[in-house]
Amino acid sequence: MSARLAAAATAALLGAGALVLPSATAHAADKPSARASVSHDRPLVVAHRGASAYAPENTFAAIDKAADMGFRWVENDVQRTKDGELVIVHDDTLKRTTNVEERFPDRAPWKVGDFTAAEIATLDAGSWFSPKYAGQRVPTLKQYMNRVSRNHQKLVFEFKKPELYPGIEKQGLDVLRKTGWLDKHHVKNKLVIQSFSADSVKTVHKLRPDIKTGFLGTPTVAELPEYAKFSDQINSTHTSISKEYVSAIHSLKGPHRKRLEIFTWTVNDAATAQRVAGFGVNGIITNTPDVVRKAISD
Ligand code: G3P
Ligand code: CA
Repeated sequence: MSARLAAAATAALLGAGALVLPSATAHAADKPSARASVSHDRPLVVAHRGASAYAPENTFAAIDKAADMGFRWVENDVQRTKDGELVIVHDDTLKRTTNVEERFPDRAPWKVGDFTAAEIATLDAGSWFSPKYAGQRVPTLKQYMNRVSRNHQKLVFEFKKPELYPGIEKQGLDVLRKTGWLDKHHVKNKLVIQSFSADSVKTVHKLRPDIKTGFLGTPTVAELPEYAKFSDQINSTHTSISKEYVSAIHSLKGPHRKRLEIFTWTVNDAATAQRVAGFGVNGIITNTPDVVRKAISD
C-alpha cells in the first residue's frame, strides 16, 4: 500500500483530525480551530504548487507527492483557457511547463488563454521536469479539486493574474461549490483563497465573506489596516519581512475578527525556514516541504 493510501485508510479509521502531519505542534496548528486562531507553535508547511522540487509543479504528481510525504496543505495557481475552462498552471504561457512548443509550433507565445481546454489536455506537463513524469497533464480545476479531496488535503488556492480573466473569481467559486469545497467544513478547515491582486481578493471576500483570504504582497505597516478589512492573511515573500513586520501583522484583526496571519514564500532552505519561524510566521510555503519540516522541528 502506498503511503498516500495508507494515510487515507488511517484517516478513515481515526477521523480526519488524525491524518499524516508528523509533528505534534504542526498537528496542533492544523486543528479545525486553526482558521480562527494564530498558533504560536511551529508554522504550517504548505507544499508550493505541490511538492514541486520533487515532481512537476501543479500536476497530480506534485500533490500526490506532497501527500506521500505527509503534507496536508498544498498551493496552486488557477487560470482560464480560451473556451472558459479553469486550469492549474502558474505561468501565463504554457511554454515552460509543457511540450506546447513542440505540439503547436505556430502558436507562439503559447498563452494559456489562447488554447482550448481540449488542446491543453493533450499536452505533456511532466517531461520537462523528468522523463519519469511523462504524460502528466495540466489538470482542470475540477479534476484538481477532486484529486485534493481524494488525498484528504487542504488548499491555498491562488487566482493567478486574474486581471487577464474577468469574472474568474465567481467562476472559480462555482467550481469549488460544485466539487464540495464551499460547505461549512471545507470553508472552516481546508481552504484559503489568495491573489497578488487586491481587487481579486476583495471580490472573493464580497462574494463569499465566510472564506479565508490572503493578499500576496508586502503592504507597508501603515497600509495593513486597509488590507485587514478583506484579507485574513498577508502572504509576503520571505525576503521582504522582519520580526517587526510579522508583529505588525499579528497586532491587527482580519475580516473575521481573528488575528491577521502571514504565510511566507517561497522558503526552500533550512536556514531561511528557521529564520522566518523565529519571526513567528503562521505558514511557510515551500517547494521542499521535507526540508522545511525538518528545519523547524530541529
Ligand atoms: O503562494 C505564494 C506564491 O505561490 C506566490 O508566488 O509566483 O509562485 O505564484 P508564485
Ligand atoms: Ca502560486
